Amino acid sequence: MRKVNKEKLITAAVKAQKMACAPYSKFRVGAALITENGKIISGANVESASYGLTCCAERIALFKALTDGEKRFSAIAVVARIDGGGMPCGACRQLLSEYAPDAMVYVCDSAKPKQVKEFSVKELLPGAFLDFRPAVV
Ligand code: THU
Repeated sequence: MRKVNKEKLITAAVKAQKMACAPYSKFRVGAALITENGKIISGANVESASYGLTCCAERIALFKALTDGEKRFSAIAVVARIDGGGMPCGACRQLLSEYAPDAMVYVCDSAKPKQVKEFSVKELLPGAFLDFRPAVV
């Protein structure tokens, strides 16, 4: 597996953040995933007037990547303009656990892209729900 260029991934997330559609919260989040082959797929949050339909930046990036045929991810960068950066929500942690279980998660304040917090997906959601098949009796 090639080494992730963290700086490049965060730069892609900061670029994606500018495309956020966040007229309600005004909280713009950018995310960028990198595949094991080094391809970067980014996304930003999209909000709805029907608030519950809002989709986070992480899931937008993940859904774009998955429906583009990408299956194996090394890392995801998540940026937002908030001190210390914004942590991925529970729903995004679940989806990352299912589709990017071996990824590293880089979190930072988009105004301080060099101050990065690092987590593994497993660390962010220990004991994730991954399988609904009943045990064979
Ligand atoms: N948001 C994300 O994009 N990612 C997260 O992990 C947490 C929250 C977005 C959703 C909504 O548009 C805004 O931040 C405020 O909750």
